[in-house]
Amino acid sequence: MKDFPESLTVRRPTVVDHARVLAVLDCWWDGFGGEAGSTERALLLPRLFFQHFATTSYLAERPDGDLAAFLIGFFSQSDPTVAYIHFVGVDPALRGRGIATALYRAFFEQARTHGRRHVHCITSPGNTTSRAFHGRLGFEMLSGVPGVDDLPVQPDYDGPGLDRVVFALDLAQPQAGGRGDERVAARPALRLTVLPTVFAVEHLADRRHRRDDSWHALVRTSEGLTVIREASGQTAPADRWIGIYDADAGHGLDVPGLLASVIQPLAEAGVPVFVASTYQADLVLTPESQRDRAVTALQAAGHEIVSQDPAGSAQADDRHVRMV
Ligand SMILES: CC(C)(COP(=O)(O)OP(=O)(O)OC[C@H]1O[C@@H](n2cnc3c(N)ncnc32)[C@H](O)[C@@H]1OP(=O)(O)O)[C@@H](O)C(=O)NCCC(=O)NCCS
Repeated sequence: MKDFPESLTVRRPTVVDHARVLAVLDCWWDGFGGEAGSTERALLLPRLFFQHFATTSYLAERPDGDLAAFLIGFFSQSDPTVAYIHFVGVDPALRGRGIATALYRAFFEQARTHGRRHVHCITSPGNTTSRAFHGRLGFEMLSGVPGVDDLPVQPDYDGPGLDRVVFALDLAQPQAGGRGDERVAARPALRLTVLPTVFAVEHLADRRHRRDDSWHALVRTSEGLTVIREASGQTAPADRWIGIYDADAGHGLDVPGLLASVIQPLAEAGVPVFVASTYQADLVLTPESQRDRAVTALQAAGHEIVSQDPAGSAQADDRHVRMV
């Protein structure tokens, strides 16, 4: 895990950890809310989170096995764009070292990989630490009724008398998950189009260029000739690729990060790519069978998917690229 103290081990929680986490809550929350707060916290973490939400949660331990931190999160069942962080805690002795930030950022990456665009969470209006922490990570407070210090409070959000402040973070924003500094580099957001052509990628041992005109890209190396061509009716489903191309092709060759901004979210979503670059843009091929997954990942990364402009700009399927 990035930016995490090397002395700590991070893993997924199991049911065995349930009692261990409950045992530290009052101490780690410094008795916040008195007896009522203590009961409320314990009831907020029933065993089911350790049974059924383990694969989106984290638990960190010291070398001696003592609990250091935990994050309980999940992906919304009802809204496929939302991931939710339910509970997070760090041992008071280990605070201020970026541990909670690292856990959040790991969760953000997992959420992005699964096509989630927003992260939501809530806190009690009086939990100033939590408010400061979430604000620092770029969360915004959703509107509510002005409370103490003009906080936007959602009255009775969790039941009578259980007011909450609701936080939301847009993972498509470049700073999402950062600490407001240089840690997260901004990725350019592009207008991308999925070309109407379905492609096939071939490798030919014969390095001589074939004279037919069905190719879109040729790359000749010592291993032979790689050909991107239009798929035919005989092309097996597993060999069919869609082409993703910049709808505003024509950025200068000196603009960094354009290709990375496309292939990184695809890699994080587990979508394979094959790339041919033109002078104007990059033609990124992904398996036709993973079209929806690719589009969702690109949108979650902040790119806009536009339909092809018949008049003009996104016409890579008409351009032949020759790379020798
Ligand atoms: C909130 C909590 C999880 C933060 O854990 P942490 O590992 O200390 O947090 P980080 O070190 O990653 O801090 C990230 C940023 O949050 C802010 N922050 C954290 N604790 C803060 C505090 N007590 N006061 C003000 N800002 C604070 C800081 O700006 C910090 O950034 P910086 O180091 O660049 O200044 C931890 O304080 C905690 O466990 N509190 C009790 C449980 C709780 O309230 N959980 C949240 C509600 S479920």
